[in-house]
Amino acid sequence: DIWNRKAEAELKIHIADPTGLCFGVRRAISKLEEELLRSGTVYSLGSPIHNPQETDRLTKMGLVVVESAEEVPAASVAFIRAHGVTPLQEGVLIKKCRKVVDGTCPFVKTAQKRAKDLSTEGYVVVISGDRHHPEVKGIMGYVEGEVAVVSSDEDIPDNLKGRRCGILSQTTQKVGSFAALVGSFSKVSPEIKVYNTICKATLARQDSVCRLASKVDGMIILGGRNSANTKKLAEISMDVGVSTLWIEHAGEIDRGWLQNRDDIGIAAGGSTPDWLIKELIQKLNMM
Ligand code: F3S
Repeated sequence: DIWNRKAEAELKIHIADPTGLCFGVRRAISKLEEELLRSGTVYSLGSPIHNPQETDRLTKMGLVVVESAEEVPAASVAFIRAHGVTPLQEGVLIKKCRKVVDGTCPFVKTAQKRAKDLSTEGYVVVISGDRHHPEVKGIMGYVEGEVAVVSSDEDIPDNLKGRRCGILSQTTQKVGSFAALVGSFSKVSPEIKVYNTICKATLARQDSVCRLASKVDGMIILGGRNSANTKKLAEISMDVGVSTLWIEHAGEIDRGWLQNRDDIGIAAGGSTPDWLIKELIQKLNMM
């Protein structure tokens, strides 16, 4: 036991830099908090942040999460989260609500605009990402013509081969996956136009995980299980080949995993609030 204690005392903790809340989510949450303090009750279309602990905190302040614009009561205050919504949903909210607070991340707005422009130019719009993700659904709403979503591990559908394709990405897509998709399209399309809409915050967080994971003997990835960008960070860490633990909060850390490790890296998803990171560091220090 003395040796175990000695090993734990020597445990070094390294934090990825940058890590945690990205600019877009931080901006959206502070807009939402301001509005909650002003209006008391605010209706958000979908969870405002892909982190259950932070959503709970905001719910206590008066946040109500609904799944569709139709569920938002008339004359209420509505909030659009960082992922954005389709123009159709936005129209419904503007029409029925007293006020609409738009927390759409400016980088997502750029992706929406690029998708619209590509479709106006006559390209089949191809989005590299997850078709079930709300951001992708929102972007698709801006396309006036044909649109397809292709995930990284998929082959190019036959109906897209030989067509003029305009390619962009979900903002949290892995760079390697996007590059591979563009490479595949360049082999089967007579013309492609590419917009790299992966946001810089995502790139910087992915790079920092990659760098740190190669220097430590264990990585803890902190973030909601419903967070796409946290999932990507966990995948990157695993790809580096280091033992990776994905947890939502400090309570999930297990002592067994920490044993016999000297250097632990911590990285948090772009939707993980600062207080959860602090809690994890405190817990590790206590352990
Ligand atoms: Fe925006 Fe990038 Fe965050 S698109 S919401 S800054 S991950």
